[in-house]
Amino acid sequence: MDHFSLKNGTLHCEDVPLARIAAEVGTPVYVYSQATLTRHAEVFRSGLGEVAHPHLAFAVKANPNLAVLRVLARAGYGADIVSGGELARALAAGMAPGDIVFSGVGKTRGELEAALAAGIGQVNIELEEEGRVLGALAAARGETAHAVLRVNPDVDAGTHAKISTGKAENKFGVPIDQAPAIFARLAGTPGLNLRGVAIHIGSQLSTLAPLAAAYERIGALVAELRGAGHAITHVDLGGGLGVPYRAGDVVPSPADYGAMVARVTQGWDVTLMFEPGRVICGNAGVLLTQVIWVKPGVVHPHVIVDAAMNDLARPALYDAWHDFVAVTPSGARMTANIAGPVCESADTFATARDIDAVASGDLAIFRTAGAYGATMASTYNSRALVPEVMVNGDRYAVVADRIASATILSAERVPDWLA
Ligand code: LLP
Repeated sequence: MDHFSLKNGTLHCEDVPLARIAAEVGTPVYVYSQATLTRHAEVFRSGLGEVAHPHLAFAVKANPNLAVLRVLARAGYGADIVSGGELARALAAGMAPGDIVFSGVGKTRGELEAALAAGIGQVNIELEEEGRVLGALAAARGETAHAVLRVNPDVDAGTHAKISTGKAENKFGVPIDQAPAIFARLAGTPGLNLRGVAIHIGSQLSTLAPLAAAYERIGALVAELRGAGHAITHVDLGGGLGVPYRAGDVVPSPADYGAMVARVTQGWDVTLMFEPGRVICGNAGVLLTQVIWVKPGVVHPHVIVDAAMNDLARPALYDAWHDFVAVTPSGARMTANIAGPVCESADTFATARDIDAVASGDLAIFRTAGAYGATMASTYNSRALVPEVMVNGDRYAVVADRIASATILSAERVPDWLA
């Protein structure tokens, strides 16, 4: 459920007409509904109702906008971060350092230092050497770093190959069969409190079976580690829950997920940690765009919109589907290709799609663009960096400025030998 709906024949975000945002801020622009974000944060939390004291860390990469993070901080979420940049954002948004979890396969020593200096709660280490480096850095500060070991369970998440992370050949985590030996070698490392394990097998999962299979393997590993004398107090179950992108998409609900977690983890006696991203913010955002032209095509017309693959990369990268809906639909339909202005054919949002009939100048949205949308934007083709707006009831605020191409140009220079 989201808060983008027709009122008096025109799409609103909560109580704000999208046409007003387009007129005042311009297009393309991302629009987020605060009420939807808050609701999803609550729905995910209540889905885990049977889990005692879950630790919820929003996966910042899904939507790192400062205002979005602030909403989630207020909803009691910590942050799952993967870079020094995300650390700075989570702290700036007011997330408690102790509720920040640092994931990522390539944390630099500088980033680990910054995380220790900030007093973050946990580092999810990806390899044995990282555990030793982290321990040494913490010991040099006279501290002990809390860490868990990310394990690769060799489970096929059944999602797009580019967002699968839990197969043995993927770069993430240590092979699950090597985890006990690595644990044993890292145990007692000065400065390191290795207290559990972490897992994340992929994103946009449309069934629970792969997650359940992976969690069961983790349960067996926890028992084995305890049998070897290790104190296991924390297990991070990652993120990955899918969201519906198109009519007919069936995905597990947070309640279904929570019930599965409660069943599989029964008796583990650990603090369970979660890193949801898309399920919190996906449906809370749309990309608002204006039709530049409806260009006749050989088979179907090309609806050329002012948003492009640099603003929303998912269709080009993962062949992802985003519903396209007119802001003020007439009721008429057309079959068309939808594309942006960027000069490559990858800049196509949809092919031969049945859509609301649109004409030059009309406004439309790409739905379910709140996750992995603005955060993956670039300035390819020397386009501006797309702005972001947050709506709260009948008011809205620009929460990220459009960064003009001229501003980006001003950070470049010609070397003196070419002057
Ligand atoms: N935890 C870890 C360690 C992750 O790598 C990710 C996502 C998450 C949590 C959050 O996963 P979620 O709940 O959002 O599925 N750009 C791609 C998605 C990449 C996901 C990367 N990792 C897309 O647009 O589909």
